[in-house]
Amino acid sequence: MVKKAIIPAAGYGTRGLPITKVLPKEMFPIGLKPAIHYVVEEAIESGIEQILMIVSKRKNMIVDYFDESLELEAFLERENKQHLIPIVPVPTIPIHYIRQPYAKGLGDAIRLGKSFIGDEPFAVLLPDDIMLSNKEPALKQLVDQFKKYKKTIIGIKEVEESKLKHYGVISGEEISKGLFKLNNIVEKPSNNAPSNFAVTGRYIFTPEILSILELINASEKGELQLTDAIRDMIFREVCYGKVVNSRRFDIGLNQDYVNLINEFNNPNFGNHD
Ligand code: UTP
Repeated sequence: MVKKAIIPAAGYGTRGLPITKVLPKEMFPIGLKPAIHYVVEEAIESGIEQILMIVSKRKNMIVDYFDESLELEAFLERENKQHLIPIVPVPTIPIHYIRQPYAKGLGDAIRLGKSFIGDEPFAVLLPDDIMLSNKEPALKQLVDQFKKYKKTIIGIKEVEESKLKHYGVISGEEISKGLFKLNNIVEKPSNNAPSNFAVTGRYIFTPEILSILELINASEKGELQLTDAIRDMIFREVCYGKVVNSRRFDIGLNQDYVNLINEFNNPNFGNHD
């Protein structure tokens, strides 16, 4: 039912400078795998069959990482290191790429997926949000909910008040435990946040969001904000926010990245809610 996903990875990662000048934050290592590898695995485990990644000319490393590497395989065979071949990543589902010429916002990045998506519901996963789940992957939790409601569903999590300023924050009516019918969304509120529930980087959209992205205006900074499109969507049709039973690490925030690495070094990595 939700078969396609967009993973936008064309941003500048300014909060991660200077390292992000040469190493995209989507490629930050978590153990021996880059962050975006975990997000691709989450998508596949959630039933996604095709991925579109939005990249830029500074992100060729991501394309190379998921590509076949025949000469590396040949080398490993020659050196009798065949046992290493299975850990070299090769996509088990098609991964397509589009370049976003200028980082003009998350909304602009997603808009580029219009012809890939066509007229289907689709998922968006932000590769700088790593979600650790005990049972179901975060996206799968949204996919299961989508099967029931067939409306846009946004993954949300309760966060401490001091962190709300980093995220989109929703307001809505809790219609069942952890499920909200949304009535508004505010981007990075500096004060008076409408709730303590922040948007995580996991979404399922009906294709109408793509038409809305064509209509909305860019912000003062010239960026097309996904949050603005979601707000318009909320005013047009029913949209839900679902609390995901996963822990979120926003690797764009240095402290979250450090916490994630510490978590990785814990022998029970991933085995928590
Ligand atoms: P962020 O706002 O967290 O990433 O966007 P950023 O813009 O790279 O980082 P900062 O704020 O400057 O530190 C979330 C995801 O959306 C992608 C980013 O690459 C990131 O994975 N993105 C953002 C795009 O693909 N295009 C954009 O124009 C903006």
